[in-house]
Amino acid sequence: MSKISFITSNPDKYCEMKAFFEENSLELGWTRVSLPELQADTLEEVVIHSLSHFDGDGVFVEDAGIFIDSLSGFPGVYSRYVFDTIGNEGILKLMSGVENRSARFEAVVGFKPEGGGDIKLFKGVVKGFVSLSPKGGKGFGYDPIFTPEGFKKTFAEDEHIKSMVSHRKKAAEKLLQYLKRNL
Ligand code: IMP
Repeated sequence: MSKISFITSNPDKYCEMKAFFEENSLELGWTRVSLPELQADTLEEVVIHSLSHFDGDGVFVEDAGIFIDSLSGFPGVYSRYVFDTIGNEGILKLMSGVENRSARFEAVVGFKPEGGGDIKLFKGVVKGFVSLSPKGGKGFGYDPIFTPEGFKKTFAEDEHIKSMVSHRKKAAEKLLQYLKRNL
């Protein structure tokens, strides 16, 4: 199999993906560029739009977001903008006094097969809860305020848990299964 490359400007995302590929004895290249992100209604649309701006193939992009039930799915596809503006403290303020803390992370990977062909989409979801305060230091994005179902620590407190159950892990597993079958 020739080397697949992950198009992302985000080192946290690349390191997580690289580890999943290595668990499967596969190398992962890094195309460290920032592609345009459409403000769309779904992660799938964002991914397809970003990939359409890249000429090569054998590459994938990934878009992720946190969807909070008591906020009707907000910030969802707006996760990056919301993180860059109000951040975790702002989210916790919005949820002050809110009992229902349930939320989920979603990740969608879009892969452009080598030699052409339709873009393949792979989705991963992890359910969990928004904590009452940030835990685990600065962490990546919303990791300090997200505790996955069945665990007591936030993703930022325990990277090992994140590497086992995360949205990115689940999307990566589907991509890896596809690559093993098709390449
Ligand atoms: P994007 O996929 O780069 O557009 O990410 C949207 C926002 O969600 C950014 O602010 C990221 O920091 C955040 N984000 C994406 N993936 C994760 C994750 O695995 N943990 C925590 N935050 C994330």
